[in-house]
Amino acid sequence: MAKIVAVHSYKGGTGKTLLSLNLAVLYANRGKNVCLLDLDFRAPSLHSILKVKNAEYWVNDYLNGVYDIKKVLVDLSKTHAKRGRLLVGLANPSTEAIREMSAKDRKWEMKALGRLLSLKNSLLNDMEIDYIIFDTSPGLQYSSINAIVSADIVLVVSGMDISDIKGTQRMIHELYDLFEKKTGLIMNKVFADFLSTKGHRQDLAKKLMNNSNLPIVDMIPCFCDILRTGGTKLFANEDPDHPFVKILNRIATTVEKL
Ligand SMILES: Nc1ncnc2c1ncn2[C@@H]1O[C@H](COP(=O)(O)OP(=O)(O)OP(=O)(O)O)[C@@H](O)[C@H]1O
Ligand SMILES: [Mg+2]
Repeated sequence: MAKIVAVHSYKGGTGKTLLSLNLAVLYANRGKNVCLLDLDFRAPSLHSILKVKNAEYWVNDYLNGVYDIKKVLVDLSKTHAKRGRLLVGLANPSTEAIREMSAKDRKWEMKALGRLLSLKNSLLNDMEIDYIIFDTSPGLQYSSINAIVSADIVLVVSGMDISDIKGTQRMIHELYDLFEKKTGLIMNKVFADFLSTKGHRQDLAKKLMNNSNLPIVDMIPCFCDILRTGGTKLFANEDPDHPFVKILNRIATTVEKL
């Protein structure tokens, strides 16, 4: 049975795109069939990170009911996956499309939710997809709520800003719990000196979250070399021995068991 994993956060820039892309590649390298969808219509990113040129069809078209999902998906298995399949659905980065998506009304969003929900069955039926990963917009806008509602697992990524931590706590208690989603928290860009203090990882993360009882999956340090690449390097493939990839492998295994 395919699992839908939505990667979400309260604030922007927490690392959702980096994590969802590398997680998708790791699963594909493990022999899984993966479908990664860019649902961040506010600031589409995957097309530029993956350097997909001449894309003609977008996830926008699927949600608009114009095209079938199969027409929208770009198959990157040959170039980006060692064993399984990696299919990617891109969000349209044109200014026109971004403005159009931000002006959608509730009725449209309800229809879009229906399409996201049916995705699992249509993809599952004849494409044998193991994981569907949603890269979402931060915060509580409709497209992200739709992604959360249609997901089996929500991975929430938080940075160390107090506003992010507080907002994440609220979202977990008031939103994910409401939808009864399996939720896993990833603390990202954690200061190295904090991680080097003695103690169990989970206890340290708990301390970061002001001792609240949240389901912490893992903590990832802030790596200057990741920042320096400007999002151009696909670490899971290009630097598989990087400590970031080791942690991500651990996260992939944890999520498999959720
Ligand atoms: N652990 C890390 N160490 C260093 N840099 C990181 C780390 N995680 C993410 N980054 C960097 O932070 C920046 C933001 O990451 P990313 O674009 O993945 O965030 P996002 O949550 O998708 O942002 P948005 O909300 O705008 O979609 C990128 O430059 C990325 O390379
Ligand atoms: Mg992003």
